[in-house]
Parts: sequence; structure tokens; C-alpha cells
Amino acid sequence: MDLGLGGKIAIVTGGSKGIGRAVAFSLLTEGARVLICARGQQALDETIKSAGPSDRIIAAAADLTQPDAIEAVVERCRSHFGGVDILVNNAGSTRPGEFLKLTDEAWMEDWSLKFFGYVRMAREVIPIMQQRGGGVIVNVIGTGALRPAAGFMIGGAVNAALNHFTKALADEGAKHGVRVVGVNPGPIMTERLLRFLPPGEKRDQAMRRSTPLGRAGQPQEVGDLVAFVASPRAAFIHGANITIDGGANPGLMG
Ligand SMILES: NC(=O)c1ccc[n+]([C@@H]2O[C@H](COP(=O)([O-])OP(=O)(O)OC[C@H]3O[C@@H](n4cnc5c(N)ncnc54)[C@H](OP(=O)(O)O)[C@@H]3O)[C@@H](O)[C@H]2O)c1
Repeated sequence: MDLGLGGKIAIVTGGSKGIGRAVAFSLLTEGARVLICARGQQALDETIKSAGPSDRIIAAAADLTQPDAIEAVVERCRSHFGGVDILVNNAGSTRPGEFLKLTDEAWMEDWSLKFFGYVRMAREVIPIMQQRGGGVIVNVIGTGALRPAAGFMIGGAVNAALNHFTKALADEGAKHGVRVVGVNPGPIMTERLLRFLPPGEKRDQAMRRSTPLGRAGQPQEVGDLVAFVASPRAAFIHGANITIDGGANPGLMG
């Protein structure tokens, strides 16, 4: 199936590792032009190198907790590729922890990346998309929203807020020709997931138990879903939050 993404211009935040990197590769494979951004230059360089020789992928080092950095990333994309058609909000690293030990600073830091980073990016690109006749915003969120848990309160609360934001932004986006979709991954085998797991055989057991399919997901499986929902083939998917979790969170609405 040709997704019709050839020539489209995409920004993928957190595109140097894990899910974001896989999203960038899926979009690139489908013919899109892609700007990836993250803080660490080395991982950005490695991702660009892994993409092989291509003038369709560039990197911008940026800390997306900073409003100025968000403006600079969008401007880089506009000046280099000529606009923005697709935004994939993905950079996030909300921490687990015991409620009584999590400080205000921890809450604010994690919200400033995963909530305000997504909000600010969306606000920055919508006028550009509107000028170009429309666009798509995909928010990579997480199933933490569906399962409130004492040990993952910051992430769960941010994800719940982003599920709401996705639907409200879809209502707003429709006025500007911008389609908005949320993707809620369950356990996906990335550096981030590995940080939360015990080593060795215990890790394998935890992974087998994490979903009814007996395994965690692969980043590329999320990358391919994001490429599809960002494509014209998904033109009628708007304001939906789509779960990709190997059946770990059964529910009638996800
Ligand atoms: N993996 C899972 O099981 C899972 C499940 C549910 C939801 N999610 C969500 O999916 C998204 C991607 O997760 P992942 O597992 O792929 O994470 P990951 O492997 O840790 O990659 C995170 C990416 O975000 C970048 N990043 C982190 N902090 C940043 C900042 N302040 N400014 C700019 N970029 C920043 C990282 O690069 P630098 O560190 O160099 O900046 C990296 O490129 C996150 O929003 C996460 O919450 C993941």
C-alpha cells in the first residue's frame, strides 16, 4: 500500500532513539522528508548515519523543555525543507517513583517536556500547516493513562491529560485543516523500557507477562502505525487515541 507520504515534511521529536527513531525511519521509507530532534548530538548523528546517505533527513539538537528551543526546531524545519506537514510529538521521559518522594521539581520537569512540549510544538506548527493547506499532528502518549497506578503517577497523569488534549486539539485543528491523532503504546522494547526492568531472566519473565501476546512490542511496530495515521490513507481518523499494546489494556474504547 502506498501511504502517499512522498515529499511530505515531518518533525519527529525524540527521534534519535526508540519509538521516535522508528517513526522517523518509517516516514523516511515512505518518502517523507524528516527532521529529528533530541538533546544528545551523538545519538542524533548515529540515527542520521543509520538512515544511509539521504538528503531527506536532518537533525536538530534541542531540549524541548525550553520554549525557545521549540521555536528554533520548527524554524530549522521551515528554513531547510520549506514547511511542516506532519508533527510527531514523541519526546517524553516521565519518571516512575513513590508519590511521597516525588518533588514539585520532578513533576514540573516531566510535565514541561511531555505535556507542555507537545502543546507548544502544536501551537507553533498549526499556522504553518494551515498556510500549506493542512497537516497532521500525532501525539505518542502511552497506556499509563488507562491504568492509574501509585508508582507511575506523573506519567499516568500526563498521559491522561494528553489523551484529552488530543481530542480537544482535534476539535481546534479541524478549523485549520489539521488532523490530530493520539497513539498509546503499551510496553515497547526501548532504552526507556529497559531502564524500568530488572536484568537477566527476570527481565524476560517480566516481558513475557507484560502482554497477552507474551512479549513487548517493537519500536518499528509503533513507527509503522504512526506513519499510517499520519498518512492520507488515514484521512478520516481524527481525534482518536489508538492503543498499541499487544492486548495488555483491554477496554471497550481503546
Ligand atoms: N517504550 C515504552 O514502553 C513506552 C510506553 C508508553 C509510552 N511511551 C512513550 O513513547 C515516547 C518515546 O518513548 P521511548 O521508549 O522511545 O523513549 P526513549 O528510548 O527514552 O527515547 C526518548 C527520546 O526522547 C529524547 N528526549 C528525552 N528528553 C528530551 C528533551 N528534554 N528534549 C528533547 N528530546 C528529549 C531522547 O533523546 P535525548 O535523551 O538525547 O534527549 C530520545 O530521542 C515517550 O513519550 C514515552 O513516554 C513509551
